[in-house]
Amino acid sequence: MINVQELEPRLRHQTIFRTFEDLNEGESLVIHNNHDPKPVYYQMMERYGEVFSWEYLQEGPEWWDIKVTKTSNAPTMLSSDDDIVLNVPELHPSVKHQTIFDTFDKLKPGEGMVIHNDHDPMPLFYQLKNMHGDTFSWTYLKDGPDWWDIRIAKEENEADGMPEDAVYKNVHNDYVINVPKLEPKEKHPTIFKVFENLKEGESMIIHNDHDPKPLYYQLLNDHGEIFSWQYLEEGPKWWDIKVTIKGIDNSETIGDITRKDWRKAEVFKKYGIDFCCGGNKTVKQACDEKGIDFKQVENDLQQAATTGGGGYTNYDEWNLDFLADYIQNTHHNYVRKNMPEIRNYAAKVFKVHGAHHPELGPIQQLVEQVNEELMEHMEEEEGILFPWVKRILKAKNENSKYEQQGDQTFEQILDKSVAEHQSVGDAVDRIRELANEFTLPEDACASYTLLYKMLDDFENDLHTHIHLENNILFPKAAEMEKQLV
Ligand SMILES: [Fe+2]
Ligand SMILES: [Fe+2]
Repeated sequence: MINVQELEPRLRHQTIFRTFEDLNEGESLVIHNNHDPKPVYYQMMERYGEVFSWEYLQEGPEWWDIKVTKTSNAPTMLSSDDDIVLNVPELHPSVKHQTIFDTFDKLKPGEGMVIHNDHDPMPLFYQLKNMHGDTFSWTYLKDGPDWWDIRIAKEENEADGMPEDAVYKNVHNDYVINVPKLEPKEKHPTIFKVFENLKEGESMIIHNDHDPKPLYYQLLNDHGEIFSWQYLEEGPKWWDIKVTIKGIDNSETIGDITRKDWRKAEVFKKYGIDFCCGGNKTVKQACDEKGIDFKQVENDLQQAATTGGGGYTNYDEWNLDFLADYIQNTHHNYVRKNMPEIRNYAAKVFKVHGAHHPELGPIQQLVEQVNEELMEHMEEEEGILFPWVKRILKAKNENSKYEQQGDQTFEQILDKSVAEHQSVGDAVDRIRELANEFTLPEDACASYTLLYKMLDDFENDLHTHIHLENNILFPKAAEMEKQLV
């Protein structure tokens, strides 16, 4: 009984053939496999001719058991030193060369095969040389005039002992990608394709002749921190890297998740989960509070991480001074540029439509409140907090002495900032609620439409803005300061 699935893929066919060759006439072997091994049947027909019977004992759906009985002695025999002997005239002309090439491909380094033929198969020598270069020896054991026996042996140092397939599953069910075996243009697409098909907890192994570190950055950029990258072997000849898709860690907070992979914010947005001010909750907590199906959200998060590349900005890897400038230039400027217009339209639309749409009154008031709070808040950040962050970073980078200013730590003054974010965030939430998720009434004019559009955009920008401060910039700076004092 040969339990095929227990064998390494590269040994499967060879084991079946060798077992068959060892059988005496009338003896049988049983192939036990999880799919119909019909290809083996055809290979055996090519190799040995009609010298066996093929009987299905079990035919799926989960397992296939085939009883193969040797009905007469096969023309193929093993030579004394275990080489496979191909009796070429016995092979059908249409499969002769292919059979020889396949047999050669299956040889491990150091192994040999013997070609037994009725003429000198010299053309084959050139064909093999063309395909494999100087990686084999060609020795005449018998040189005519009736029979030619040539021993072809694979050089010891040619291969790396890996199977012939460029991509296969190993005994642990991990995908193995033998990168040098792929055509250059196929290398990256193949790796990405295998990666994208991995499920949570699954792994692939990249086998390469140099460190594929650039690939790490590309995967990180396209997919975010959803995988681990572990060196199993690190040169000098071969690099083996095990890449595993991480499972969702249920103790991770929403802030952590968004910080690591910005694209997941889209999922939180979709479900109305607050990922900036409410970022210190776990996904489960937030779902329970909102009465949302946790499984569904988890699913979407996983999807967001594995499908589609690009557009992923890893803010988490940015230097803090750069991030502070970025927030100021991008988000603070956005507020300063758009707030005056939003205030104008909120006032105007309330004036025209307030009578029929009473919610426009409180919306306008909230816009005024957000404006006031945010302007003051941003000034404080630009005047105190951001320069503070830069001082901390500078001291750390230059390894210089860090002078604490005042009697509060950076962490202590953050409470105020976070509370202000919360207040502005709540106000914006309330606006969305009053505006019925920015659903326009039938009598909405162009200004009404524009106001809702601007408010919607404003909320999106604010969420990103607060997220970057609450979950990345501020906690990282606080942590860094702690290390310094
Ligand atoms: Fe800010
Ligand atoms: Fe802020």
